[in-house]
Amino acid sequence: MAKIATNTNHVIVRTSLCLLPPLLLAVVFYLRFQTQLSIFSPVCRCASQPAAVPGAADDRLRASATFLPLKDTRQGAETWFISTLNATAEPEGEARNLVFPSPASAGRLLCLAAPSRHDGAKNAYALAWRDALPRGAALLPGLAFVSETAYDHTNIWHGLTSLVPFASWHARGGCRARPTRWALFHHGEVRTEISGWLAALAEAATGAAVAIETFDAPGPACFEEAVVFRANVAGMSKERMLRAADFMRCRARAYCGVDASSKAGGGGDESALRVTLLFRTGARAFKDEAAVTRVFEEECRRVAGCAVAAAHANNLTFCDQVRLLSSTDVLISAHGAQMTNMLFMDRNSSVMEFYPLGWKQRAGGGQYVFRWMADWTGMRHEGSWWEPVGEPCPDKPDILDCWKDRQIGHNETYFAEWAARVFAAAKERKARSAAAEVSAVIGNVRVENKTYRHSQIKDLSGIRKVECVHALK
Ligand SMILES: *[C@@H]1O[C@H](CO)[C@@H](O)[C@H](O)[C@H]1NC(C)=O
Ligand SMILES: *[C@@H]1O[C@H](CO)[C@@H](O)[C@H](O)[C@H]1NC(C)=O
Ligand SMILES: *[C@@H]1O[C@H](CO)[C@@H](O)[C@H](O)[C@H]1NC(C)=O
Ligand SMILES: *[C@@H]1O[C@H](CO)[C@@H](O)[C@H](O)[C@H]1NC(C)=O
Ligand SMILES: *[C@@H]1O[C@H](CO)[C@@H](O)[C@H](O)[C@H]1NC(C)=O
Repeated sequence: MAKIATNTNHVIVRTSLCLLPPLLLAVVFYLRFQTQLSIFSPVCRCASQPAAVPGAADDRLRASATFLPLKDTRQGAETWFISTLNATAEPEGEARNLVFPSPASAGRLLCLAAPSRHDGAKNAYALAWRDALPRGAALLPGLAFVSETAYDHTNIWHGLTSLVPFASWHARGGCRARPTRWALFHHGEVRTEISGWLAALAEAATGAAVAIETFDAPGPACFEEAVVFRANVAGMSKERMLRAADFMRCRARAYCGVDASSKAGGGGDESALRVTLLFRTGARAFKDEAAVTRVFEEECRRVAGCAVAAAHANNLTFCDQVRLLSSTDVLISAHGAQMTNMLFMDRNSSVMEFYPLGWKQRAGGGQYVFRWMADWTGMRHEGSWWEPVGEPCPDKPDILDCWKDRQIGHNETYFAEWAARVFAAAKERKARSAAAEVSAVIGNVRVENKTYRHSQIKDLSGIRKVECVHALK
């Protein structure tokens, strides 16, 4: 961190020393952008920069790559990232993006001078032609996925909402364009970390290991190609979200070698009902996991071919989670990021959610994220149980503040009645669809006209030869 701060100060000093020449050179850009910001050129190099010679077209082109703040504080949060360009949705119903180079960028590449991890207004972008990059700029080969989010790439739920538009874009292109690197931003500030779960999902979805650009090199970085999404899934239609979820589920299962066509727990019985208790540890764990397990096992016993699996989310690898949820019809879990794994269940599977006291009363709309997620991944959210009572905490009078992350109790009567309803309906759906011999293409990977089971696909190199079944148009 100390190193970063030093870099930033250094840049500010250089910026102020170098302010005058670019001002003169770029007067025309003041007029063009009608901006009240001072020209922002954190990478100007007084010593190495030759005076502009009239007629030196190359130098003028280089100088014309004007850097503007990555975070334009005059704009709202959804549009402040690269604010001078309009993102477009192609086709309609997808998230809006910016592509470089493209006709909209007049064939120019995206260049970023991004030394700051603390202030997006200190980072800058410019557009430049490939043969006239800004002085000192490095050309980074390949395709860059540039993700700006108001949330957090290290939280798997928030991170997923920033990954979805990229996965969808990649699938729409027939899975051909793989990102060589990712550039991550939060409010224009450089981020260099994502959760391991998200990195694995991104690798599964795009076929390329995630490499995060750190922007540690001194000059600007110009991307040979770049795609920018700056508002997560905003603007995506439900239909498009469902298809993106199908695509990611399919690719994650293939990546993990999950054979989703073998129905665990039922000895090959297609109508077997597979119930999974996905426990948390620490905040919002159940107080008495054994008692909770007993209630659901008891109800499961009343359903033919029903089996309960229990696991702790914190000690499962990414592929353990994909494997477990791929063979889950009913997910039972306390509110928290581990529920994001519902993505890997077959469509139409069920989710039952649990909250400590205080959430229902005070947590607002954000507590319903996993209902929304169930909606756009094609699952059935079967409702929630909010703990009705709790021991008082005198030092925290606010009910949410007090109980938000506390452990969750249980109500055997309520859980049993609820589970009986959900299990019976889920069982009936499974029996119906097994009888109809619905061909479960979702979860399998199709090569030409054949559907392969995942166990037949040995590794990622095999997947590269496989078309995306869900390649979107
Ligand atoms: C972006 O689009 C909006 C409306 O679609 C338009 O008013 C605005 O002028 C456009 N801005 C740029 C920079 O093209
Ligand atoms: C997983 O974590 C839970 C709780 O932290 C622990 O009780 C359990 O033994 C762990 N299981 C394994 C296989 O490590
Ligand atoms: C989900 O269930 C509905 C009926 O509730 C059914 O019409 C639909 O085909 C099912 N979808 C899948 C993918 O099984
Ligand atoms: C438990 O649930 C049952 C059924 O909904 C309800 O009648 C009862 O009041 C609940 N008990 C407690 C202690 O909340
Ligand atoms: C796949 O099926 C289509 C339609 O049935 C057929 O026209 C095509 O030739 C088949 N492709 C292969 C490789 O068998």
